Amino acid sequence: MMFTIFSSLISVSQAQDPSQLSLDYYSKTCPAAQDIVKAEMECAVRDDPRNAATILRLHFHDCFVQGCDGSVLLDDTYSLQGEKEASQNANSLIGFDIVDKIKNQLESECPGVVSCADLLAIAARDAVLLVGGPYWDVPLGRKDSTTASFSAADTDLPAVNHGLVTLITKFLAKGLSVTDMVALVGAHTIGKARCVSFRDRIYGDFGTTSHSALTSELYLSSLKSTCPASGGDDEVSPIDNVTPTLFDNSFYHILLRGEGLLNSDQEMYSSLLGFETASLVQKYALDPIAFFNQFSDSMVKMGNITNLEGGEVRKNCRFVNS
Ligand code: HEM
Ligand SMILES: *[C@@H]1O[C@H](CO)[C@@H](O)[C@H](O)[C@H]1NC(C)=O
Repeated sequence: MMFTIFSSLISVSQAQDPSQLSLDYYSKTCPAAQDIVKAEMECAVRDDPRNAATILRLHFHDCFVQGCDGSVLLDDTYSLQGEKEASQNANSLIGFDIVDKIKNQLESECPGVVSCADLLAIAARDAVLLVGGPYWDVPLGRKDSTTASFSAADTDLPAVNHGLVTLITKFLAKGLSVTDMVALVGAHTIGKARCVSFRDRIYGDFGTTSHSALTSELYLSSLKSTCPASGGDDEVSPIDNVTPTLFDNSFYHILLRGEGLLNSDQEMYSSLLGFETASLVQKYALDPIAFFNQFSDSMVKMGNITNLEGGEVRKNCRFVNS
């Protein structure tokens, strides 16, 4: 008898290990959670396919700073400096209203149960699926942070002007391999970038990497008309100009042609140091299934970056619970 009680206590404490995610985390406490997120994401993406990109990027920027803990969602307050004004996020991250809407639905169905970090992980998967990408099961059980880190958002997130070695270093620092990086950056098959993110590239080495083929010249001149040498910083252009709202592998074909919009993307193929990354770009361009499989695996890995401090289930994704 004593033994049974003792061993069941152990198994309870193992089940609550905060660093271990599980597929059935909400199966008893909020069985409708995944359906609720899915229904809201269907609306959002039907409304505007870019919303798929927006949510996917939010999850990435969440996971790279303190782990996937919803820290990116926190608003600035008197007592807390959030991450929204960090250099890679300011004037760029959007979609917080979509998160609020999903959270409201979750709270009315099962109050205080589903974390904002899990919400983002499920929503990012649904986003990808809704625009033609792969499906994967999302491990759940993340907690929301009670802190954010403006400084880690500045130091840990990769940036367009980083060279290949810095990009690789930033992914390795999060436990993600070169293969994970090249697959995950394939997320740029959807969504848009601002002129300020690609100006240096189009007035810089775009012509060199693209070997000035006629079609590249035409693309380049249309980019320049969207994004003048000065001014128009917030004008946007699709990152994948071939199939901007479809999750496919055309992004890698664009890199093979040397027409990547973002300097960091083209680095994967054109950097002199990029033997390994260039061969992965070729692989995913040739084999869309290999890309989908690796993207799914790498998303699970990225979603597994944990904030070891644990946390809470926020009632409102923008604020810590009082
Ligand atoms: C090599 C590392 C990466 C760099 C340097 C990078 C950089 C950027 C930049 C500069 C933009 C445009 C932002 C703007 O102009 O406002 C962007 C957009 C985007 N990024 Fe990345 N990114 C990287 C990796 C990733 C990863 C790993 C994901 C997701 C798995 C991702 C998902 C997205 C998406 C979906 C968009 C479009 C967002 C929208 O349309 O609202 N990126 N990225
Ligand atoms: C997720 O992280 C846990 C521990 O933090 C580890 O045991 C597990 O293997 C990881 N899973 C994946 C898919 O990376």
